[in-house]
Amino acid sequence: MQSSLLPHMLHGCDYNPDQWLDRPDILEEDIQYMKKAGINCVSLGIFAWAALEPEEGVYTFGWLGEIIENLHQNGIVTFLATPSGARPVWMAKKYPEVLRTGSDLVRGEMGDRHNHCYTSPVYREKVYAVNKKLAETFGSHPAVKLWHLSNEYGGECFCPLCVAAFRRWLETKYQTVNAVNDAWWTRFWSHTYTDWSQIDPPLTRGEHCTQGLKLDWMRFVTAQTVDFMTWEKKAVRDGGSSLPVTANFMGFYDGLNYSKFAPLLDVVSWDSYPSWHSDAETDAGVAVHTAASHDLMRSILPDKPWLLMESTPSCTNWQPVSKVKRPGMHMLSSMQAVAHGSDSVQYFQWRKSRGSCEKFHGAVVSHDRRSDTRVFGDVAGLGKRLASLDALIGSVPRPQAAVLYDRENDWAIKGSAGPRNAGMGYQETVVRHYQALWQMGIGCDLPDMEADLSRYAFIAAPMLYMQRAGIAEKLRRFVENGGVLVGTCFSGLVDENDLCFLSDAPNGLVDVFGVRAEEFSGLYDNEFNHTIWSDRCYAMSSIIELVRPEGASVLAAFENDFYRGEPSLTVNHYGKGKAYYIAGGAGLPLLSDLYAQLADELNLPRALDAELPEGVTAQTRMKGDRTFVVAQNYQQYPARIHLHTPIRDLETGEEVSLLELSPYGVRVLEK
Ligand code: GAL
Repeated sequence: MQSSLLPHMLHGCDYNPDQWLDRPDILEEDIQYMKKAGINCVSLGIFAWAALEPEEGVYTFGWLGEIIENLHQNGIVTFLATPSGARPVWMAKKYPEVLRTGSDLVRGEMGDRHNHCYTSPVYREKVYAVNKKLAETFGSHPAVKLWHLSNEYGGECFCPLCVAAFRRWLETKYQTVNAVNDAWWTRFWSHTYTDWSQIDPPLTRGEHCTQGLKLDWMRFVTAQTVDFMTWEKKAVRDGGSSLPVTANFMGFYDGLNYSKFAPLLDVVSWDSYPSWHSDAETDAGVAVHTAASHDLMRSILPDKPWLLMESTPSCTNWQPVSKVKRPGMHMLSSMQAVAHGSDSVQYFQWRKSRGSCEKFHGAVVSHDRRSDTRVFGDVAGLGKRLASLDALIGSVPRPQAAVLYDRENDWAIKGSAGPRNAGMGYQETVVRHYQALWQMGIGCDLPDMEADLSRYAFIAAPMLYMQRAGIAEKLRRFVENGGVLVGTCFSGLVDENDLCFLSDAPNGLVDVFGVRAEEFSGLYDNEFNHTIWSDRCYAMSSIIELVRPEGASVLAAFENDFYRGEPSLTVNHYGKGKAYYIAGGAGLPLLSDLYAQLADELNLPRALDAELPEGVTAQTRMKGDRTFVVAQNYQQYPARIHLHTPIRDLETGEEVSLLELSPYGVRVLEK
């Protein structure tokens, strides 16, 4: 498949005409307004199963065909969804097994969505049949360009079918029950199993202390969901369609290990709903988390452009407080996705529904049916801008820096009773390390332990608590070959089953870091230790370690308590590279100063040749010998940046050495 779906930037939306089939005036208006807003693609049929198969085995696809054709005639392509994200009532009533069972062992009733059993043979049979028919009917329509498989795969089911599948999965993995006992250390509290049938998933009133069980359950849930998606994909292939497929993911959602879906995906897509203008964080803070989420999703297939499948044109209606975007934020937040490699900006939703639970969720068209609203104007403005940015199509960020984030490590840290049951903050820590690069305009991937790490010059691997097979060796080779690695406290402690290594920590990397960590301790939320490095004092929080140098140079020491004088920051030369160890929870100031120094030493490319003011960043997209830069200002006041090397504004052609960004401004440049 080509690296991009279409030669144009995509501007689109989830479109639900199935809710309006008795309103031809609305459907007609949709087309007129889409053209006015510069919409060139729609995701169609996501929750349309009842309209596609109103009775068991009775398929009514005529309306869908007319809609696809009408869109096509008006220059709008279709991403065709399979409808498995929500099932029709007749199915749930006739076949209750399709409904999900909770960890309390109570089966859900018909209602809501995303709550079907991925194991149920009946559900799989029904999904297969409708998917295959959709593929046979529309798979070769010239306007259908992509399969949007289901919607936001996620969740777990504890029904007898799933439990049986889990036991089979364990049997394949471990062969014998005793191997399970060994892997999960079940002799603890006499939880030894003597038969496969005794192994239950982590039920509400059941087993929670066996961490290996919890980890394997999450791995099984991922495997079962991958298997379900494989089945959905097979159905469209059996229906004769070879179109590319995607599934819309959810960023840092931790219910699935998304990287396991990579082999099934032709293109990565995800749904981004940041809480702009929140009272808990600045817009720049929200932007950092959103940027990290974009890069996390992009890192699933790091060499390809991806799609922003959903975002809101104004507000959501499910956040604790849902705010509309202030003027300028729609352009900025949409272009942020483009900056991180998206070839599309798409919305949930085109038109607000009249009733039910999402009627007040933001949409391009509201209940007033007007196209002269503020939101419509913002959307149309973006449409116009995207239409002029086809040069960016197919370009990708290609960073030389990475912050390692591993979903299984995340599960392990959350599930393991340790120094801070009040919250270990693994994701927050990863994002903080990422932020130190983001604010310098240095591009960054977020690979996991399975990824190829040899492509980077710099890797931060904070809180590498769990070591999945081979990671210590990979990191060793990385440093040996000249890479710069930053490790932190709470690393190299357990294997994939959460069994502690009977060795010095960080396991297998003591000689690489030149330190061994002897003890770790939690700090209370408002408790700090301090360290002085290069004449600046930095607070350390959350976790603190006592480490013993084994060859490393001590760059800084702790200041407080009995830790005073003990190493807080060390560096070790190993092979052609260097490994830093931070023995406590580092705040942004320390990471910023350390990473600025390392970025200069390593000559890590910055998107702009300048010091960036707070709240301003820039990202790079490259193809062939062209390098594009998207500069963004997340402050509500203007920014002026003196560039050491001038750059060309891609949209105006102007040569820029003083880069001015308006409040919430964004500019597309070319080096
Ligand atoms: C997404 C979902 C959409 C819509 C949206 C609302 O998670 O895929 O169908 O519900 O949230 O923000």
